Amino acid sequence: MRVVSGIQPTGNLHLGNYLGAIRNWVRMQDEMDDDSQCLFFLADLHAISQPHVPAELRAGTLEMAAALVACGIDPQRSILFNQAQVPQHAELQWLLNGTARMGWLNRMTQWKDKAGKNREGQSVALFAYPVLQAADVLLYQATHVPVGEDQKQHLELARDIAQKFNNDFASDDAPVFTLPDPIVPPQAARIMSLRDGSAKMSKSDPSEMSRINLVDDADTVMKKIKKAKTDPEPLPSEAAGLAERPEALNLVTIYAALRDMSIDAVLAEHGGSGFGAFKPALGEVLVEILRPISDRFTALLEDREALDAILARGAAQAREIALPTLDATYKALGLVRG
Ligand code: TYM
Repeated sequence: MRVVSGIQPTGNLHLGNYLGAIRNWVRMQDEMDDDSQCLFFLADLHAISQPHVPAELRAGTLEMAAALVACGIDPQRSILFNQAQVPQHAELQWLLNGTARMGWLNRMTQWKDKAGKNREGQSVALFAYPVLQAADVLLYQATHVPVGEDQKQHLELARDIAQKFNNDFASDDAPVFTLPDPIVPPQAARIMSLRDGSAKMSKSDPSEMSRINLVDDADTVMKKIKKAKTDPEPLPSEAAGLAERPEALNLVTIYAALRDMSIDAVLAEHGGSGFGAFKPALGEVLVEILRPISDRFTALLEDREALDAILARGAAQAREIALPTLDATYKALGLVRG
């Protein structure tokens, strides 16, 4: 089993990232056997597909590395690195650009959402972004890719690219690429904004009140939860009663995920309560889980050299795993390299 996943090092790590992806990374790392490997990386190459400030990207990359370690990614057991230190990602992307189809990329919902009506004005990188994402996982022969719901379509594209490449350039008994399986959590695969139950919680939302950052202090967490949009009804006693109440469903989902409970179990405890009582209970669970993460994060950031060393070591390990697949790809395509 080889587990591979990434996160863009832009903005703060938020609760959606944590419950939708990072917590699963840590669980998979902790359950790994001797024959398995976990590779987690900062998708800094993806971050340049949209306008960005170089100094912020540089600082954000180290901060995201610290945040992942603070959440429980152990660089002794997992390979933690940033994409730009492993040039094989960009190299493989170019090789896969010959296989990916424009029509496939045109159908990506993230591309459609981000480009909106202004497709002509977008960078080529934003359009080609899912091909780089395919390269990220195919480069390591990933078998499992833990992600939130919003990345599932990109992983399906990675499978399509792998399959077409294998069909076009490899024999059935010696495929070049493994088809990766997306691993999406049954609960919390899509945490919504605290201000709008129809929009996902996101690093790019201009409103800080829309998300809980993993480094928010206790007062900020309590304030954001208190101000979270809700409705005036008390909580129902069964999940079906949340069907038309997206904001209420989101808060109950967050509570359930944090405490590893089902929605029905949460409602058995809190059904009949109004948000005046439920919100402080949710805030307390959040603070209890976030405080140790935030303390570790602050401590880790004090030793930037140690973080640099973690990333350099991870990149060296990743390059070693990547090379045979990259060589096989060049060879399958008939490219002469001496
Ligand atoms: P990114 O940086 O937007 O998000 C990192 C991870 O967090 C998940 N996530 C969420 N899960 C639940 N609810 C939310 N509101 C929420 N917001 C984000 C994402 O699904 C993701 O798993 N393109 C990717 C990064 C990437 C990648 C890869 C992932 C690059 N290469 C290869 C997997 C494999 C991205 O921008 O994720």
